[in-house]
Amino acid sequence: EEARKRKLREVTDLAARVYHHLLMETEHGEAARRYLKERGITPETMVEFQLGYAPDSYHFLRSFLKRRNYDEVLAEEAGLLARRESGRGSGSRFDRFRNRVIFPIHDTQGRVIGFGGRLLGEGQPKYLNSPETALFHKGKFLFNLHRARKAIRSADQAVLFEGYMDVISAWQAGIKNGLANLGTSLTEAQARVIRRNAETAVLCYDSDPAGQNAAERAMEMIREQGCVVKVAQMPPGMDPDDYIRQRGGPAFSGEVIAQALPYVSFKLEVLKEGFDLKDEEGRMRYLTRAVEVIAGLPRAIERDHYLRRLAEEFHLSLDALKQEHRRIASKKK
Ligand code: GTP
Ligand code: MN
Ligand code: MN
Ligand code: MN
Ligand code: MN
Repeated sequence: EEARKRKLREVTDLAARVYHHLLMETEHGEAARRYLKERGITPETMVEFQLGYAPDSYHFLRSFLKRRNYDEVLAEEAGLLARRESGRGSGSRFDRFRNRVIFPIHDTQGRVIGFGGRLLGEGQPKYLNSPETALFHKGKFLFNLHRARKAIRSADQAVLFEGYMDVISAWQAGIKNGLANLGTSLTEAQARVIRRNAETAVLCYDSDPAGQNAAERAMEMIREQGCVVKVAQMPPGMDPDDYIRQRGGPAFSGEVIAQALPYVSFKLEVLKEGFDLKDEEGRMRYLTRAVEVIAGLPRAIERDHYLRRLAEEFHLSLDALKQEHRRIASKKK
């Protein structure tokens, strides 16, 4: 078992090194180098993240590993090769990653355990990740954790992104405490890892509906683990990588991360979108729902704080809101 894992690590690490070599040093990597350069990624960053290129071939890695006397079954177990299920050549193995920029994924000790691969240019699927293997469990690891851990601990804050490129762009711009959860919904295990390393988590997801929904779910998950959660807001249609490239790292730190809304404020803001606040009736209905949200908060000081804020925002007496709060709280029992 341990011996098998050691072999899996070995072949995975070798693949990372050959993909990286291809990107940095060879003619085959030329188009991928240009692609990354156009996306603003410097050669230093390519080295730091050990980015790679998997060529447009079904047998590049398979042949390479064969020459090095690695077993195909091992390479398949590592998720590097896939197997034809049916039809001609059924059962034969081929390179899983083809014509993709390769993002190695490391465990907390900095060992490569899997890969993400992005297609050069357009096409489907845009990203391909390693399958679940004995080393790689998608629900447990966070991209960039081994690099970011020191910065996360010293800031006592982690920034959670959706994508590889967001983390890398942010890193290049000096924001070293970024993580990503590999495009799936955040799991409890991942939320626990974040909590173990930081008091505060800033969610910085894409400003599209998919990103906002994911942010809401991740927010609850991380909060349950006891973190202070904030949600950063991006201009419509942008993701953090777009923002950083257009406006730079300092603007991102000062205007996006630093302005992130606390959990409850974010919820109250999202709630507003469903009501016409210019209309008196709409305002009343919003207030009822807002007080419901506040009544659901676990701590009395939080409830008090947000009732006061709401009273100020809508020029109401705190007494009236407290009465409404009592009415809702007693109904809930
Ligand atoms: P770029 O177009 O390269 O900037 O990608 P992005 O990171 O902005 O992509 P997007 O916001 O669409 O997705 C965020 C993350 O979700 C990606 O970094 C991937 O981890 C994951 N993801 C996106 N598309 C796919 C896909 O087609 N398949 C899988 N498995 N994951 C995806
Ligand atoms: Mn698993
Ligand atoms: Mn997206
Ligand atoms: Mn995105
Ligand atoms: Mn993007």
